[in-house]
Amino acid sequence: SIKIFRTVQQVRQWRQHCLLNRETVGFIPTMGALHDGHCTLVNQSLKDNDRTVVSIFVNPSQFAPHEDLDAYPRTVDTDMKLLSQKFVSKPVDAVFIPKITEMYPSGITLDVANQRGAFVTVHGCSEQLEGVTRPQFFRGVATVVTKLLNIVTPDRVYFGQKDAQQCVVIKNLVRDLLINTEVKVLPTLREQNGLAMSSRNAYLSDSTKQESAVIYQGLTAGATFYEQQKDNGAGKVSSAEILDKIKKVYTSNKDFEVEYIAVSHPETLDDLEYVVPGTGAIISTAVRVPKEDGSGVARLIDNVVLV
Ligand code: PAJ
Repeated sequence: SIKIFRTVQQVRQWRQHCLLNRETVGFIPTMGALHDGHCTLVNQSLKDNDRTVVSIFVNPSQFAPHEDLDAYPRTVDTDMKLLSQKFVSKPVDAVFIPKITEMYPSGITLDVANQRGAFVTVHGCSEQLEGVTRPQFFRGVATVVTKLLNIVTPDRVYFGQKDAQQCVVIKNLVRDLLINTEVKVLPTLREQNGLAMSSRNAYLSDSTKQESAVIYQGLTAGATFYEQQKDNGAGKVSSAEILDKIKKVYTSNKDFEVEYIAVSHPETLDDLEYVVPGTGAIISTAVRVPKEDGSGVARLIDNVVLV
């Protein structure tokens, strides 16, 4: 059966056993409300490693005071069922479900001005795109991921391309702080209609979920245009023209508010005026859509990779 760890010490002890047995360890950090997107990460880890551990922790420091920390879906019982049943080859070995005090010994407040203790900032890739409307977000992510990697010390750690900027932040974090682990990024899993799977899709009505398919349709229109230009032998493709193709698709829906659409360098996340085949780009977007319960908007993010 799956081991459930609540404390840092329990995880460290288990990790020590793996090491003594020369077993490799794969790690998937999550905030729970698990869906098939999370499961692809777990499946890959089960294939790559002798042991796999998943963490479930809704990390307060990556939420701003006005954001959805309290509303964020918490479904630990169904998450545990999924982790014990879903994987036919072998189940995951362990799940780490810490209390907030375990992860933040100095305590944690969402009010940045009054925070105490140690935090990790990855400068240069945390400020743009998601960082514009969520200025403390990647500091929270980098801090909790550093803590988790210090606890688990996995051979490999798994992330989803769905959160493209998060992947860039984590890669830079691991490189710059000399963290001894291999970062694996896996493709975005989507619903039948193209909508990227996300725990926050739980906020949406069925009809909004259907309409949200337009987000990926737009990105695909941009990517298709790029591929055509590339096939025609273009040495570079104008970002403005790519964005035009996407916006044509997006204007069809008035309930949705596009926060940004950007064509960015895949490693630096700098805005690109042109996409050069070979270097490639990430086209990313954030769209605000109405929540089912009428309590405001949900922010959906998505991206496609150009090569
Ligand atoms: P969470 O949103 O639970 O996501 C956990 C991991 O699952 C992330 O690496 C995310 O990119 C990946 N993921 C989510 N939806 C996916 C999809 N549709 N296809 C593929 N992968 C997907 O991201 C976080 O939690 C947190 O920021 C965390 C890294 C755990 C730090 O708190």
